[in-house]
Amino acid sequence: MIPDRVTLVEMGPRDGLQNIDAAIPTDAKIRFVDALTRAGLPVIEVGAFVSPKAVPQMADSADVFAGITRTPGTHYTALAPNLRGYDAARAAGADAVAVFTAASETFNQRNIRASIAESLERFAPVLERATADGVPVRGYVSCAFGCPYEGAIDPAAVVRVTADLFAMGVAEVSIGDTIGVATPNRVDSVLTRLAADHPADRIALHFHDTRGTALANVLRALELGFQTFDTSAGGLGGCPFAPGATGNVATEDVLYLLDGMGIDTGVDFDRVVDASLVIEQVLDTPLPSRALRAALAQRAREAAE
Ligand code: HMG
Ligand code: MG
Repeated sequence: MIPDRVTLVEMGPRDGLQNIDAAIPTDAKIRFVDALTRAGLPVIEVGAFVSPKAVPQMADSADVFAGITRTPGTHYTALAPNLRGYDAARAAGADAVAVFTAASETFNQRNIRASIAESLERFAPVLERATADGVPVRGYVSCAFGCPYEGAIDPAAVVRVTADLFAMGVAEVSIGDTIGVATPNRVDSVLTRLAADHPADRIALHFHDTRGTALANVLRALELGFQTFDTSAGGLGGCPFAPGATGNVATEDVLYLLDGMGIDTGVDFDRVVDASLVIEQVLDTPLPSRALRAALAQRAREAAE
């Protein structure tokens, strides 16, 4: 079942940076995205067209889009919670957009101030306009394994909201372990249900590595035949509406695993390290990725020789 080829969807500039309080200059965000492009990431989530009061770090997303250097092989995407966000994302030049809801009512209220049903109603005009424009839409389902407010989440809730998103016309659904509570057996129980209804190549996995289980979960999803993973350079990340949440599983960590297993991604490990360094130097603090830390230690050793 393990696929020969995997698509990595880079979250660093959006999910990675959205939870960081420090001011990150727009210019550094642009250099980060450009370095990720050079690394060969096929999809980069560049920013979010959301309320700047809710997520101040994403307020300069249009300027980031305006400053980046694009290559034809890369898709540049953005979050769009409503029609206003969709229009702003398209005006900025996003190739695709993502709407986002949850399997938990409480999380959804805190995150986007809507019930799950209300959020789907808000997405309907976005899907309608995107379909007319020929723009692919991704749908996120947050808290698919657990919620910071409600605790364990019934897989049936994930199945329901995923089916609703596909019925509305999204191209792909990303299943989010927002607070990093999943373990491989729970991945199994959610993904086998989803795989019964939808092709695996239309479902992405979005693991946060809060408790160190993300790589084990990636491996389990690979074994079940899933082939799209959301990752963040350096393991940057979190969610402003999920207290204590840490970064997405690191691009370098997943890439080290996939390279070692002979699974093709088209992404260059050393160049992802270079991209992570752009942000690490601005933050002046080490990013959490284990494979990044090992690569930098090796670079330092080689430089000393
Ligand atoms: P609301 O209060 O229901 O909407 O918020 P509203 O229409 O009443 O607007 C509220 C304010 O937002 C107004 O401004 C609007 O102008 C403004 P104010 O009058 O207060 O100055 N506004 C906007 N501004 C810019 N762009 C827009 C926009 N729409 C309204 N598109 C809303 C609803 C969704 C807007 C708000 O709650 C919001 O922006 N939330 C941000 C949520 C967010 O970005 N969360 C983080 C990303 S999700 C995530 O990280 C999870 C994920 O990674 C997967 C996982 O890990 O699970 C994807
Ligand atoms: Mg996330």
